[in-house]
Amino acid sequence: MKRTITMTVNNKELTLDIDVRASLMDVLRQQGFTSVKQGCGVGECGACTVLVDDVPVDSCIYLAMWAHGKNIRTAEGESRNGELSPVQQAYVEAGAVQCGFCTPGLVMTTTSFLENHKGEKPSREEIRVGHAGNLCRCTGYETIVRAVELAAKKQNEE
Ligand code: FES
Ligand code: FES
Repeated sequence: MKRTITMTVNNKELTLDIDVRASLMDVLRQQGFTSVKQGCGVGECGACTVLVDDVPVDSCIYLAMWAHGKNIRTAEGESRNGELSPVQQAYVEAGAVQCGFCTPGLVMTTTSFLENHKGEKPSREEIRVGHAGNLCRCTGYETIVRAVELAAKKQNEE
């Protein structure tokens, strides 16, 4: 069964005819937002994380029709005028990217985490708990924690 939905993705309104069973992840990827990665496909790894009304969700287990009328943010939309976002830049500077498969999802989780910790210096424990839904097979997480610390520092200096 098809349904027409309207959602805003990275500040652009899209009207789409979707299958009611389609996941938000599949619909976003079909629309060219390929930063949204399919890892596990069952809500375990966080590779597909996007922000829905600024809240991180696993888009593989979120029906696209639930996104009707909502504001979606993916990693593509975080850079401005060809420049990486402060969070993306911090991941690069901290060496937190190896294969990179987990990175777009982690960047979105960090983006939301820091929007909720403005003016704060989150502890390593808070960072780890705040990113517990995103798995990485490569980095051992230490560089990711450093990237979040660096991004928090940059955010507080702005
Ligand atoms: S692909 Fe969605 S949580 Fe793993
Ligand atoms: S950098 Fe490879 S999965 Fe995280």
